[in-house]
Amino acid sequence: MKKAYLFMLSGCFASLPMTMWAETLHVATPGTSLVIDASKGDKAKFLYYGEKLSDADVSALGDSGAAALDLFPAYGVNPEHEAAVAMTHADGNMTLDMVVEAAETKRLPDGTLTTVTLRDKVYPVDIKLNYRTYDGEDVIETWTETINGEKGEVTLRRFDSGYLPVRYGDVWLSSLYGAWANEGRVEEAPLTHGMKVIKNKDGVRNSHTAHSEVMLSLDGKPQENEGRVIGAALCYSGNYELRFDTDYGDYHHFFAGINPDDSEYKLAKGESFVTPPLALTYSEEGLSGASRNFHKWGRNRKIAHGNEERKILLNSWEGVYFDINEEGMDAMMADIASMGGELFVMDDGWFGVKYPRNNDSTSLGDWSVDKTKLPSGIKGLLDSAKKHGVKFGIWIEPEMVNSISELYEKHPEYVIKAAKREPTMGRGGTQMVLDMANPKVQDLVFNVVDTLLTNYPEIDYIKWDANAPIMDHGSQYLSADKQSHLYHAYHEGFAKTVDRIRAKYPDVTIQACASGGGRANYGVLPWFDEFWVSDNTDALQRVYMQWGTSYFFPAVAMASHISAAPNHQTFLTIPLKYRADVAMSGRLGMEIQPKNMTEEEKEFCRRAIASYKEIRPVVQQGDIYRLQSPYDDKGVASLMYVAPDKNEAVFYWYKTESFVNQQLPRIKMAGLDPDRMYTVTELNCIDNKPLPYEGKSFSGRYLMSNGLEIPASHSVDYHKQNDWASRILRLQAK
Ligand code: GLA
Repeated sequence: MKKAYLFMLSGCFASLPMTMWAETLHVATPGTSLVIDASKGDKAKFLYYGEKLSDADVSALGDSGAAALDLFPAYGVNPEHEAAVAMTHADGNMTLDMVVEAAETKRLPDGTLTTVTLRDKVYPVDIKLNYRTYDGEDVIETWTETINGEKGEVTLRRFDSGYLPVRYGDVWLSSLYGAWANEGRVEEAPLTHGMKVIKNKDGVRNSHTAHSEVMLSLDGKPQENEGRVIGAALCYSGNYELRFDTDYGDYHHFFAGINPDDSEYKLAKGESFVTPPLALTYSEEGLSGASRNFHKWGRNRKIAHGNEERKILLNSWEGVYFDINEEGMDAMMADIASMGGELFVMDDGWFGVKYPRNNDSTSLGDWSVDKTKLPSGIKGLLDSAKKHGVKFGIWIEPEMVNSISELYEKHPEYVIKAAKREPTMGRGGTQMVLDMANPKVQDLVFNVVDTLLTNYPEIDYIKWDANAPIMDHGSQYLSADKQSHLYHAYHEGFAKTVDRIRAKYPDVTIQACASGGGRANYGVLPWFDEFWVSDNTDALQRVYMQWGTSYFFPAVAMASHISAAPNHQTFLTIPLKYRADVAMSGRLGMEIQPKNMTEEEKEFCRRAIASYKEIRPVVQQGDIYRLQSPYDDKGVASLMYVAPDKNEAVFYWYKTESFVNQQLPRIKMAGLDPDRMYTVTELNCIDNKPLPYEGKSFSGRYLMSNGLEIPASHSVDYHKQNDWASRILRLQAK
């Protein structure tokens, strides 16, 4: 859209057209708009991000009085402001002064790509700002490409993927924090003056602690189902940094990108540097609305096989830990098959010939079957799986090595370590990280998977673990002057490797595990089908962790397993019903020794698995509506999934504390069709008498404005009473 370029006019000329913008770019999704001014020779300007604008409103933006902010602040000229990019030129000059060189929007097969090319006024350096939409998705991905056209090497000191100004106001930040076994905790706080920084420096995993995804609620304290929300997810698997700068002006400034700490990046003449995408969404339906946008985009575009249903599995870890043997594996397969499960995953402990893997201090790197444990090898396990009618999956941790391993004996030069120093050891006192920057290591990691899948094409599932951070800044592969590339080069190498694996094995299911939830990010999900939410399988703590994780990730990607009581991490004794009800709100699996379960418990799981198969399409592909946050301390948490056609929904309710005569809130449902009648069926019912509304029908309108009364405890025989209560209600439209 070309417009006459006029300077800002004063009030007395108010009747004249006041448009300032000469080249307006409207990046539009079905429900959102991003508007940019990219007039050649001028600074590129950010004009608007939010609810979808009509052409008329886009044209009138210049008259709205809103400031036009720098679209991508570069460091150097007026350096007192926070910048999104900083560079040292070949001649030592530390400034950038970027103006628009070109702008274009291209149609892609499944969306659009708008590129604004900025060029330095003096130096032959280009920065391309990319904005990509996908048809039907309310998400815009933005990333940059910096091209060094200088005669010598330039050094990038900062390289954000995106920058977004957000109008100053009662803006709240919702972010995730945590620790191992306590991932995905929600924190909410208003953005106050000064700088808020969220960053990660693990090197390998990036979501145990803070996450690289956030929500900004623009209308005060975050609400689940109302209010304007901007969501942002940096799609990167490595170290990241998110900055929120609230200065003295009218805007909060949000920057997101690769963490620049100790990571200066040198670009040789003619080379370019591409940043990972920052995905932005906007919703006027609260946090849950922004989550639905992320989930749909995730399933359709960013998660391997995101539109396909996941199998119900049993994983061996908490059942047997390292005690792997043929008989035990066969028995577990028989058990999961008898309960209706579809897949068995053999976890850690199956490999190592010279050094058998009996605990966590040996064998990583030696991916050959330990025949003393498994005399018939993987072939024998696949035969067992076939006999029991389930699929078979296997655990690997291919980016890692133990010092006690044949691999380390042969290739000590493959590990990450600082020159002239001994490597730091992690898990088991012997674990090190392989240097994914090294193409030979990339081949090695590729070959771990390739060998397994070539020899045993029936392997249906891989659990890919990563149990160590980068513990020494040092690559034995990168040259001395490129040591600062390590963190990024690791993830480039990782991406190249998994890309190769996916090209050859597009169908295998791959789980991203990293000491639990260390790889819950959209940087890995294009190659991975799901992630392990946490090594903590305690159902109560999972209510909190899965709540936070669901802000950004759909249930189809969130592995959630029924485990033993007392729980192996928290030692809480939570009844099987509650454990099943929680696991059934994600990608259901089991992580337990079935041999230790009673027949009654197995029968309960059989019923739960059968019910899950019925609701699986709605849980894994439906729209989330979070209703009552466990973080609000109301004694209860509740959420629901609704099928896109609103024919069906599943409602979950969990008590989070237990006091006698506690007043619990009545939960209003959401997302239903107000004009349709929904029949209620309770799943995993344990009560002696049905709920009053069992089999009864209510309008969506009634359910959304009133909800149903959920009893605070279960009506069971005295000896079965306990301090927990949970419910799953299935709603089917008539
Ligand atoms: C990590 C994973 C667990 C399990 C163990 C095996 O901790 O998160 O699920 O696979 O490794 O050693």
